[in-house]
Amino acid sequence: MASNHTLSVDLGDRSYPIYIGSGLIHQPELLTSHIRGHSALIVTNTTVAPLYLNAIENSLNSAGIRYNSIKLDDGEQYKTIESVMAIIEILLTERHDRQTTLIALGGGVVGDIAGFTASIYQRGVHFIQVPTTLLSQVDSSVGGKTGVNHPLGKNMIGAFYQPQCVIADTSTLSTLPDRELSAGLAEVIKYGLIYDASFFSWLEQNISGLMQKDNSLLAEAILVSCQTKAEIVQQDERESGIRAILNLGHTFGHAIETTMGYGNWLHGEAVATGMVMACDLSLRQGWIDDSVRQRCISLLKKCSLPVSPPPDMGIDQYMDAMAIDKKTVNGTIKFILLEALGKAIVTSDYDPELLVQTLSEC
Ligand SMILES: NC(=O)c1ccc[n+]([C@@H]2O[C@H](COP(=O)([O-])OP(=O)(O)OC[C@H]3O[C@@H](n4cnc5c(N)ncnc54)[C@H](O)[C@@H]3O)[C@@H](O)[C@H]2O)c1
Repeated sequence: MASNHTLSVDLGDRSYPIYIGSGLIHQPELLTSHIRGHSALIVTNTTVAPLYLNAIENSLNSAGIRYNSIKLDDGEQYKTIESVMAIIEILLTERHDRQTTLIALGGGVVGDIAGFTASIYQRGVHFIQVPTTLLSQVDSSVGGKTGVNHPLGKNMIGAFYQPQCVIADTSTLSTLPDRELSAGLAEVIKYGLIYDASFFSWLEQNISGLMQKDNSLLAEAILVSCQTKAEIVQQDERESGIRAILNLGHTFGHAIETTMGYGNWLHGEAVATGMVMACDLSLRQGWIDDSVRQRCISLLKKCSLPVSPPPDMGIDQYMDAMAIDKKTVNGTIKFILLEALGKAIVTSDYDPELLVQTLSEC
């Protein structure tokens, strides 16, 4: 398979392309052809800027686009409304008008903050995603969810807002720490579990090459992941139904992230453990057999991901954190569970006693 791909997310007048391949940030027209005005603001962070800001600046210079940049502090703990205000301050001080474009250069944290700021600045300006982590290339840059955290809950302030394009350059993954690569693989595995059993088997066969950052295997995994996400988002852009299956493991995972403090567990690590817990509850419900749970655990372990929750987390802490999950309606927590490998459902129809067993025994 060639390692360069273009995919389209078809959402009517909010449709956009996803470019996947190696060296894409050094192709200026890919970026500049999606900028309508004469100004841009690059939003990045202090880790990514020294690595890749230059490439984006060169592209903007080549097209004569005026730009500013902001380097946020690095970390989930900075995914806050204060970071949004700092970006808006630069936009206003530097007189960026409604024709400006925000360029998110970094992982999911930068993308979520920049996208949310774009959605509210002067009631909405364009933005482009240049994701540089595996997690952001396969998940957060696609689908239009943007937002920041509140101390009482993750992603509680946000908007649905689609980018103009996504440029996923696999060569940027060469500098990604191994732990972050693994966290991204958790979301890749998720697509196999919820939607595509044959992709799950492909991952089982190719996991060691992916862990070694084989470029063409990564491009293929990103392609299938983005195709799956696009297919689901096209059916349900605002998550009134099927889109929620993309949150497999996230209800448990968000509870772990919130309780342990943002940044201690990586998002992908919390999702990995959450997926094992979702498998456990599905098994207790009698919907899957133990081989599915075992295959999930075994694949996650091969990615050096955690498969059990922090030992000091109690049932009450889960219940408190899950009570403010966005999938909780009128006090009933909805879970994404598996009916089979490759088939997920959104349900509140589970036995609460079995949930308690999962929380206490996982
Ligand atoms: N919007 C969505 O649909 C969606 C979906 C999933 C996750 N998310 C959000 O995404 C965030 C997690 O994203 P993430 O895993 O990308 O974390 P991240 O943005 O914190 O990036 C992880 C780390 O890698 C560094 N980094 C980024 N690119 C690098 C590179 N190429 N080389 C070296 N270091 C690099 C970052 O500076 C950071 O330290 C969470 O806030 C989560 O809630 C959003």
